[in-house]
Amino acid sequence: MSNRRGPDFETRMAEDEEIEPPSPFVEQATVTDDSVYDEFEADWPDCWDRAAATLDWFDPYESVLPDDEPPFEWFAGGTLNACYNCVDRHVEAGAKNRVAIKWESHLGETRTYTYQDLYREVNEFAAALRAQGVEEDDVVTLYMPMIPELPVAMLACARIGAPHNVVFAGLSADALATRLESADSRFLVTCDGYYRRGSAIFLKSKADDARLKAAHDLEEMVVVEHLGETEHLGAGQHTYDELVAAHAGAEVDPVERAADDVLFLIHTSGTTGEPKRVEHVTGGYLAHVTWTSQAVLDLKPEDTYLCTANIGWISGHSYVVYGPLALGTTAVMYEGTPNYPERDRIWDLIEENAVDVFYTAPTAIRSFMKWDTSLPASRDLSSLRLLGTVGEPIDARAWKWYYEHIGNGNCPVVDTWWQTETGGMMITTLPGVKKMKPGSAGPPLPGVGARVVDGRGEEVPVNEAGYLVLTRPWPGMPLALRRGHRWGEEAAKLDVDGWHYFTGDGAKVDDDGYVTVLGRVDDVINVSGHRLGTMEIESAVVGVEGVVEAAVVSVADAETGGIHAYVTLETGVSGDDDLRERIAAHVRERIGPIATPDAVVFTPDLPKTRSGKIMRRFLENITNGEEFGDTSALQNPEIVGELESIVRDS
Ligand code: WTA
Repeated sequence: MSNRRGPDFETRMAEDEEIEPPSPFVEQATVTDDSVYDEFEADWPDCWDRAAATLDWFDPYESVLPDDEPPFEWFAGGTLNACYNCVDRHVEAGAKNRVAIKWESHLGETRTYTYQDLYREVNEFAAALRAQGVEEDDVVTLYMPMIPELPVAMLACARIGAPHNVVFAGLSADALATRLESADSRFLVTCDGYYRRGSAIFLKSKADDARLKAAHDLEEMVVVEHLGETEHLGAGQHTYDELVAAHAGAEVDPVERAADDVLFLIHTSGTTGEPKRVEHVTGGYLAHVTWTSQAVLDLKPEDTYLCTANIGWISGHSYVVYGPLALGTTAVMYEGTPNYPERDRIWDLIEENAVDVFYTAPTAIRSFMKWDTSLPASRDLSSLRLLGTVGEPIDARAWKWYYEHIGNGNCPVVDTWWQTETGGMMITTLPGVKKMKPGSAGPPLPGVGARVVDGRGEEVPVNEAGYLVLTRPWPGMPLALRRGHRWGEEAAKLDVDGWHYFTGDGAKVDDDGYVTVLGRVDDVINVSGHRLGTMEIESAVVGVEGVVEAAVVSVADAETGGIHAYVTLETGVSGDDDLRERIAAHVRERIGPIATPDAVVFTPDLPKTRSGKIMRRFLENITNGEEFGDTSALQNPEIVGELESIVRDS
């Protein structure tokens, strides 16, 4: 095997938590000059021209950012089409035979789409959508697993200026219905089903349920026959193949979209019981993700790239589909899980496809560590040039394992902090420029303004924890923030001067300006990389008969993770296993399996402040066996001790 460590590996690791980027990487990196930070500072906001220059515009924009007060009209006056940028321009530039998407199915089937193939199918499906009555600005909901028809459908929507609304296939029929309503979407593309760990999951039946549950009518539904199960198609339902075949060879002109026309909607968990609708716009979003794919992931057109994120979430939108395809890269996409059929699935994919750049999540890295280090060691992973992580904090031990066992000390690791709301990466090292510090994401990217403040908006001292706020607008910002909406403020009650966005995360900054993200400080929890709203889950729990109140917390153990629910019951209702199962089943039905509590604890009361607010912090302490602080602000301090013994004895 050619898995050899670079010559200066030992010295680089020894330098106490500071690692210089490996020199072979730096020699070929796209961004290598430290001056990029000063240039962006000196020339803000026009510095973001650099991001916009990664794209082809139909009409050039008149100004990068006309005003630094809301509304923020990034690239005002410019027009473009995201599908044109991700597909047509590569075909026109002579790269038609380069592979755009290589898809590996759960059962070992492989499908390869060159940019020409992608062009053909996207055009045909765009024509089909139009023929179904989809007009510009109509929202098309895509409830699909990791199959190539998903990016095809996204790009087809982008081509005709119809914003897509992708709903993660693991979410329930209820969750789909809520998202159809929230997006006011009357068109749905789904599939008959898919495989997960060897068993078939039927999606169309969930989509049919959602159709009945949604408050408005669906006009048309398109079904990809992925399992090949014969499906009963009702009125207004068509198979994907039939529609594409009916439009064979069709070409549809890419619609000219204004920079701030919506490209897509995506729903994420917020601090209320309802999913939070985030709308990303064509110009700023695409510029942001394309620029960061180039500057941070160092992607080049000749690269083969693997990102394990599901397209149902923002990471998949930005860094499986839009960023890599806008750069003309080959993206490897796979269906299923990293441990099926075997725990070396990912190493297999990397070796077989000679993957250059690999982007995954800390939760996956922790599983890889736990499974068996000899699995990656027995594979040739020497094609790798750069490694990335996203989704939650990565501790120094997992970081170093990744660097050493997957990258062999030859690949920089970029720990990228960002959110659904930011659209693209915000805080991370530029891998060809900055030293790395395991456990710390790094400095804000050039042009990004981030600060860590206390509740009064004062910057906290070095290495002390505070609230992470973004202090400058950025191109990938979503519509609501562009318009001056102040998301998250209510929850934090921060008193910061000037325009800012509260991220919901806690963080600290060191002497070099490196940010270590500590995790959520609002009512959002991160469970194995899944972002979930405590209120969303709690309202599902409270929906079960007999339940009065509920509070959910996440389990801190990095390996097991999970959710614990604390539940109070109506008098006379017995807290038994049957009720526990009914609670779990109801959460599964309302949201999906990812939100199912791993433990349900029945309690006579929940710790509350005098004003009646549930103090989840104490429940977290109890769940995780931590010391709890001062309980004197509670109206019922005795419940904390009582609960501790309930949990200990259970
Ligand atoms: C967390 C995922 C630490 C954070 C792209 C954030 C991280 C939330 C990191 C957003 C990181 C993401 N280090 N924490 N590198 N990346 N997070 O919207 O709490 O699903 O607020 O977007 O994930 O989750 P979302």
